[in-house]
Order: sequence, then structure tokens, then C-alpha cells
Amino acid sequence: MDAVEIIRTKRDGHRLSDDQIRWFIEAYSTDRVPDYQAAALAMAVFWRGMAPDELSTWTRAMIDSGERLDLSAVGRPTVDKHSTGGVGDKVSLVLVPLVAACGAAVPQLSGRGLGHTGGTLDKMEAIPGWRADLTPTEMVAMLNEHGGFIAGATADIAPADRRLYALRDVTATVESIPLIASSIMSKKIAEGTAALVLDVKIGSGAFLPELDRARRLAETMVRLGADHGVRTTAVITRMDTVLGRTAGNALEVAEALDTLGGDGPDDLVEVTLALAREMLVLAGLDADPAAVLASGAARAVFEEQVAAQGGRLDEGLPAAAHVHEVTATASGVLTRLDARAVGVAAWRLGAGRSTKDEPVSPVAGVVCRAKPGEEVRAGEPLLELHTDDPGRVDAALAALADAIAVGDEPPSPGPLVVEVIGD
Ligand code: URA
Repeated sequence: MDAVEIIRTKRDGHRLSDDQIRWFIEAYSTDRVPDYQAAALAMAVFWRGMAPDELSTWTRAMIDSGERLDLSAVGRPTVDKHSTGGVGDKVSLVLVPLVAACGAAVPQLSGRGLGHTGGTLDKMEAIPGWRADLTPTEMVAMLNEHGGFIAGATADIAPADRRLYALRDVTATVESIPLIASSIMSKKIAEGTAALVLDVKIGSGAFLPELDRARRLAETMVRLGADHGVRTTAVITRMDTVLGRTAGNALEVAEALDTLGGDGPDDLVEVTLALAREMLVLAGLDADPAAVLASGAARAVFEEQVAAQGGRLDEGLPAAAHVHEVTATASGVLTRLDARAVGVAAWRLGAGRSTKDEPVSPVAGVVCRAKPGEEVRAGEPLLELHTDDPGRVDAALAALADAIAVGDEPPSPGPLVVEVIGD
């Protein structure tokens, strides 16, 4: 096999053979193809795309670059959720224990945040003592004893994706539907779950803001799931403003705890329940997640799961040393609070990282005292900026400069749950 010929084939818009794909991914994962050739192929795929069966082989090769977790010893139906990432997206923190409390087992392997969207592991690590690294044996034990876990992916899960994703990040080849779909699905399929619900975000805080492209991504991932024996449904949800009222690690854990205690913001509850219902359908369970949430059972499961991973919720969550208020400059209705800008502000306050190995602040973030559609009065607080480092506030304020609008008429944002795509 010849890497140059493979790049040329894709560059010229032809289909790669199964052997070419398997050889290239294997050779790249084992250092026999250098980054510059993988980057050239990624750029060729970016422009030329991939046929469905070609992408299926590509995804299989990425899965086969590592191990697939064996969850056959789990005594409940397994089902997971993946989100394409949004601002204030703390859904997993509520959903994992909720769906567990409904009788399923949720094996959630998550990542850390990069850029303006937060990572679930960063949020959970705001809980004193909580640890993200579980061995495969511990994962199976968590599923059997506590109905689920949130943990970091081990190095054996789709290692080809780990390398390729880092490369795409620095070669402007992230925003390609086949590359995104194969990246996400290879990791989720390798995780061993029998079923999967995808939360595909659209809107200003989303990774692919337009509905058309998000729908194509959703359809592509649902098809890949079916090709590899994982029952998959995608739910397209809107992310024009922050989900709930907080963006930032400990702030989001606190909001998730409120939600598990029956006192969550409407939008977070709506998205969480929509995803929970789809997960339960795929798991073949007949439970009412709204009733389970209201009963407090999901909160009890969350506390159990956190404690089993070393978390000490009884110590409380850390809080920022400095809180800066942003006030409304006019009275009226808040018509816009841009998700991406709030995400960037939270990141600049210290909640997120710019490079893979940077530490994050557990306490930094933004609290939205008002959300679009709510009345505000001039001089009253709109946002709280939380940080331990007041030197970061100006940069956060700069991110928010065009993010807020106050008018006379409430906005009409459209439904939060836009579409459900199944196979
Ligand atoms: N998330 C992933 O895991 N991979 C992508 O390519 C994009 C988002």
C-alpha cells in the first residue's frame, strides 16, 4: 500500500477501497504513516466526503485501532448519550443517574473541554475527591451496582481517533461531517454500549450551528450506529442561549444537583427528559423519567455514583473568591443572551482550557440572572462573572460586548427539541 496513492485517490474524488482504509488507519495508529500524510488525507476527505459504506469501513478501522469494552457481564440494558457540545450543557450529570434510576445501565465515557464548550469530566472534577479514571473492571462494577458512571475514556478506546482528532484540530479539518461522525461514533461504539442517544445541538452555541448540517451529521451517525449494531437515535436540540442558568464547572454541578432535587430550570429539564425518554425506548424500559426525577430517586443514585468514585459532596462545592456583576443598561425584555459569547466568557474566566494540558478552575464561570424572554430593569444584575482571578474579568466582559440585547417584545426562539431522527 502507498499512502501517496491513497491521498491522491481521495483528492481526486474517488472511493477508497476497504483495504486502503484499513491499511491507512492501522499504519497511522502505529506511526508508519506520518502526521503530514494523515493531515493531507483529512483535508481530502474534508473536500471530497465519503460514501456511506466507505465511512462505515473507516469507522470500523478506527474502532479496531483499540479495544472494545466488553459489557456482557452487565445485568441491565446498556444505553448511553453523547452531546455534540453546548454552553452550560450539564445534561449528563442529571441524565446518567436519572436513566439509571429508571432501570438502565449508562456507561458514559466523557472528555475534557477544549475552547468555549465545557467538558463533563471538568465539571465532575469540581466535586472534591471525585476521580475520572476507572478501569474496565471498575466500570462494569459501577454499572451493576450503581447503574452507571461518568469516566474518562481509556487510552485503548479508538486510539486512532485520539491522534487524528488532535491533528484535525490544528489543520482546520474538524468541521467535516464524515470525520466528525466517525470520530464520535468510533468512541461510542468502542465503549460497548448496546444503544445510544445523540444530542445534536444547533444554534449559536453549537459546533455546527445550521439545522441542515446538524441534520446531516445526525443522520450519518444514526446510520453508523446501525451499521455497527448499536441502536442509535439522534435528538436535535437548540443551543442559542445557555442551557439552564450556569456555565462553569462547580456552578453547573450545583445546578445539576438542584435539578436532581426537583428544582431545575425548565429548559434543562425539558432537554434531559426528552433524551431520557429516547434512551428508555432504546433500552426497552417502560418508566416515566419525569416521575422518577420528581421522586428524588435520581438524586439518590447520583450521590451513590459520586461517592463510589471518591466524590465527597458533603464537603460542599468550591466557590469563587470574586464575583463581578454585569447589569442591564436598559429596561425591557432580554431578547438575546448569546450562548457562544457566554461560553467564551466562562472560558476566559478560567472555566475552560486553550491547550489540552492546561488546568481548569473549578470555581470560574457565569451565572445568568436573566434569560431571554425575562423582564429586566436598568441597573439590575443580568450576569455574574465568577473567578478567583479578577484580572480575567475584562477579557470576559470583552467577549460579552455584543452578546446581550434588551427590547420590547419577547423573542420567539422556536422549540427546544427540534427533531428526533431514528433508524
Ligand atoms: N467531537 C469528537 O469527538 N470528534 C469530533 O470530530 C468533533 C467533536
